[in-house]
Amino acid sequence: MIIAVDGPAAAGKGTIARALAQHFGFHFLDTGALYRMVGLAAIRAGGEPITTAAAIAAALSLDPSRFADSDLRTEKVGAAASIVAVIPEVRAALLEFQRSFAKKPPGAVLDGRDIGTVVCPDAHAKLFITASAEVRAKRRQMELGSADFEAVLADILARDERDSKRTTAPLVAAKDAVTLDTSGMDIASAVAAAIAAVEARRTP
Ligand code: DC
Repeated sequence: MIIAVDGPAAAGKGTIARALAQHFGFHFLDTGALYRMVGLAAIRAGGEPITTAAAIAAALSLDPSRFADSDLRTEKVGAAASIVAVIPEVRAALLEFQRSFAKKPPGAVLDGRDIGTVVCPDAHAKLFITASAEVRAKRRQMELGSADFEAVLADILARDERDSKRTTAPLVAAKDAVTLDTSGMDIASAVAAAIAAVEARRTP
């Protein structure tokens, strides 16, 4: 079984996807980490601003199963990921790894932006996790500790714009996705709602 979890930055999809994987005993892949790896590798190889050539070279030489870096979760690398994610060759280079991961038995949960639309259009269950930009910025600000709210909000809005407006695999809910707005929910109720939505899609 494949569960696709998509949505904008800081909507809670990572937390929900991990909880789903644990609940169902499935494998979990954070596909945003793949784009973060490419962004970070491109910065290290070619500096900033990131060039298309450096991003493509980084994507083609990446071994996604081996890459681990404590810098991956920073806002700077998140923005770099969103920039390299616009490049069709980068997306193409990461596609096969994601698709073969999704086939792992007994099932897999993948979270990202285009899982239900492009990577796994035949996923058995698709969730689109969203929340207002203000709520997402507030959550991200708390995660980061001391960051300035207006700056975090501006970063979230810039990422939304770039992720949704790109021509290749833009951020959009799949037609058959269940949308979950977590703005007014705590983690436990969001996870419970996600589990219920997946259960409803499970073949009896
Ligand atoms: O989920 P995240 O914040 O770690 O993702 C970082 C960036 O990677 C995001 O802004 C857009 C890109 N991304 C993507 O284009 N497609 C995916 N499936 C996952 C992430």
